[in-house]
Amino acid sequence: MYVEETIGKYEKFVNPALARLFRFMGLSSVETTAQGWTITDSTGRQFIDCLGGYGMFCLGHRHPKVVEAVKEALDTMPMCGEVLFNRPMADLAERIAEIAPGDLQYSFFVNSGTEAVEGALKLARLATGRKKYIAAKNSFHGKTYGSLTATGRELFRKPFEPLLQSFTHVDFGSIDSLAEVLDEETAAVILEPIQGEGGIIVPPAGYLKEVRKLCTQAGALLIADEVQTGIGRTGKWFGVDHEEVAPDIMALAKALGGGIMPIGAFVGTPEVWQSLIEAPFLHTSTFGGNQMACAAGLATLKVIKEEDLLARATVSGSYLLAGLEEIRSDYPAVIREVRGRGMMIGIELTKEGAGGMLMSLMIESSILIAYTLNNPKVIRMEPPLTMPIAIIDRVLEALRVAVQKTDEIIEDL
Ligand SMILES: Cc1ncc(COP(=O)(O)O)c(C=O)c1O
Repeated sequence: MYVEETIGKYEKFVNPALARLFRFMGLSSVETTAQGWTITDSTGRQFIDCLGGYGMFCLGHRHPKVVEAVKEALDTMPMCGEVLFNRPMADLAERIAEIAPGDLQYSFFVNSGTEAVEGALKLARLATGRKKYIAAKNSFHGKTYGSLTATGRELFRKPFEPLLQSFTHVDFGSIDSLAEVLDEETAAVILEPIQGEGGIIVPPAGYLKEVRKLCTQAGALLIADEVQTGIGRTGKWFGVDHEEVAPDIMALAKALGGGIMPIGAFVGTPEVWQSLIEAPFLHTSTFGGNQMACAAGLATLKVIKEEDLLARATVSGSYLLAGLEEIRSDYPAVIREVRGRGMMIGIELTKEGAGGMLMSLMIESSILIAYTLNNPKVIRMEPPLTMPIAIIDRVLEALRVAVQKTDEIIEDL
């Protein structure tokens, strides 16, 4: 009854098409509690969360240390008074500067990924006085006007045109494609170190380093959109760390709040921040940097260090990837490729229809996965970095059975 009522309210007050899609996927459950890698629905059924809130749950659900930090802020000062100094924000900005690559030093806090990207784009305009931006095809940077203009997916862009001016989209991973358009009028190049929504696309080795070089030569800024790759997801603090590249501006969100609070940030070097130092009220946010969110951010970064989660993500991610590769080699008619870094993994299928089928079969086995927004042929797995190997084994076993069943009917999909 509770489930039917909830779906009924979705149909009537949220979006009927969304309700239909959820039902079609076999998602007739209402989530009620969560802990670690487990989500429990209103009937008591437990699901293993392998999607991780599209990258939000690096620490899993309700990590006790983050819960405790947020509760403390709740009991003392949950939201900024906006006039006096705010200690958790100062501490978090300091900690981000310690772990961020290169000279990244100053942080401005926001509430979501798209806001972090908006801030990064505005800062690039201010710092360079230039108007042109370059982003990648198949990218995803969010859905507000600025970040949507950077997003390289027609489906999301078309209904909202005209978007912002002076954005060019180049082939992700191709230096030649970038070199053709990057010039001395370019304010910034914005890239995800690994394209997430685009289908977990890892660029060729050396690509980001070359991009950095070209940007420096042209006097353009490099914005790393680390909203999905950041905060340990790929086995390092940030995706750019794999190539030891230091961007001029970095956008963060998702896992920064430990899966407890919404928080994002754009982070910049002293050089690019100069314009905001001169005019700090050019960009503001009422909720941005509130004490609860910053306490969650600080606790999250502390837990990642204390629990050695960067190393664990590397080890568990390699284990999961190796297990998936075995399944792929047994069922090449279903799975074309598996790829990723750390706990950010994509399974590319041979056919679009296989994605929905695999997702439904996995949900029947009480395991949550989903395909990517930009690319329905790619199933995404972003489990908590804390997930033990024994649970990963259960996921692999269930996936093998689901892939085998899909293999039997792949011709008809
Ligand atoms: C790389 C990247 N940038 C930006 C965003 C937008 O974040 P949000 O949904 O918090 O606005 C996302 C969301 O998936 C993302 O993956």
